[in-house]
Amino acid sequence: MKIHGRHYRTIWPRPDEFIEVIDQTRLPHRFETQVLRTPEDCADAIRHMVVRGAPLIGATAAYGVAFAMKKEPSSKALIAALDLLGSTRPTAVNLRWALKRMHDALHNRGHGDRFATAWAEAAAICDEDVEVCRSIGLHGLPILREAAAKKNGPLNILTHCNAGWLATVDWGTALAPIYMAHDEGIAVHVWVDETRPRNQGASLTAYELGAHGVPHTIIADNAGGHLMQQGRVDLCIVGTDRVTRNGDVANKIGTYLKALAARDNGVPFYVALPGPTLDMSMARGADIPIEERSADELLKMTGRLPDGGLATVEIAAPGSPGANPAFDVTPARLGPALRPDRGLGEATETGRRGL
Ligand code: MRU
Repeated sequence: MKIHGRHYRTIWPRPDEFIEVIDQTRLPHRFETQVLRTPEDCADAIRHMVVRGAPLIGATAAYGVAFAMKKEPSSKALIAALDLLGSTRPTAVNLRWALKRMHDALHNRGHGDRFATAWAEAAAICDEDVEVCRSIGLHGLPILREAAAKKNGPLNILTHCNAGWLATVDWGTALAPIYMAHDEGIAVHVWVDETRPRNQGASLTAYELGAHGVPHTIIADNAGGHLMQQGRVDLCIVGTDRVTRNGDVANKIGTYLKALAARDNGVPFYVALPGPTLDMSMARGADIPIEERSADELLKMTGRLPDGGLATVEIAAPGSPGANPAFDVTPARLGPALRPDRGLGEATETGRRGL
């Protein structure tokens, strides 16, 4: 994706064999990057959401393992790095997937080969993510074409959180078909859920869409149901952090309410599902570990002051406690159509197996 005319991925290797990432805690007000040099740097970046989004979390963790192997290519160091990185965020299965892949690539290697192997494997994970996301875009594009052909005005698509290129290495999952549709001249307009409490919609999705020139409008999280009742949403597309064997879908908190509203209003609801986000080892969504994040994310807000500085302010009654579950599960029975890199399937065990 391009920022100020220059192509970026969200994570890239540097000639000095460190990696650089876009600092997503500073967007949309500042475009800054961070250099990550150690497994601890990578773990901190994931935990504090300098990088976030299921695929990008996995890619960053993979480089974290590579840094551990650079410092000390022993099996003990490998296990310690897998533990450290694996404990950062629990819900997105891409993290576990990437760490297992790094383990499988490394554990039988001689110590002398381990860093080079890990560095190459992490790069391969990144390159494959770009291809998977491009493929999701290509599979999703005909759905948007068909829906747009039935409309006079622009196709109104609602999305939640950020499942765009910032959440992946490039392209995005839910947003990939939207970018492709826009690029081929289909009139699309995106309703962007603000996505409280961290506002990934207002700060990241809107930033991406704006940078690419895609028409969009930020809405309060609670507005989606109303817009659907008014016939102002043609379809919803969201990302996912984990899909279980039966087709239950974990995604950013609030996704479930959108799926309920979509079902009630007959609005098609699609989940953009990359292969590594499918957790075949887990039977149903109730088993997914749901991340609880600090209540500060709810009780405080960070934004830009009139003088351009960034500030964090308290927005709640002093002393009131907050609870901050970061994800919810949309049950397969609500019928989210899964639109992964291999085609379209219903969110049932049979549909998912078909993919
Ligand atoms: O807490 P975040 O910002 O990491 O949550 C991100 C999401 O919920 C995304 O929708 C999901 O990871 C899919 S990203 C392609």
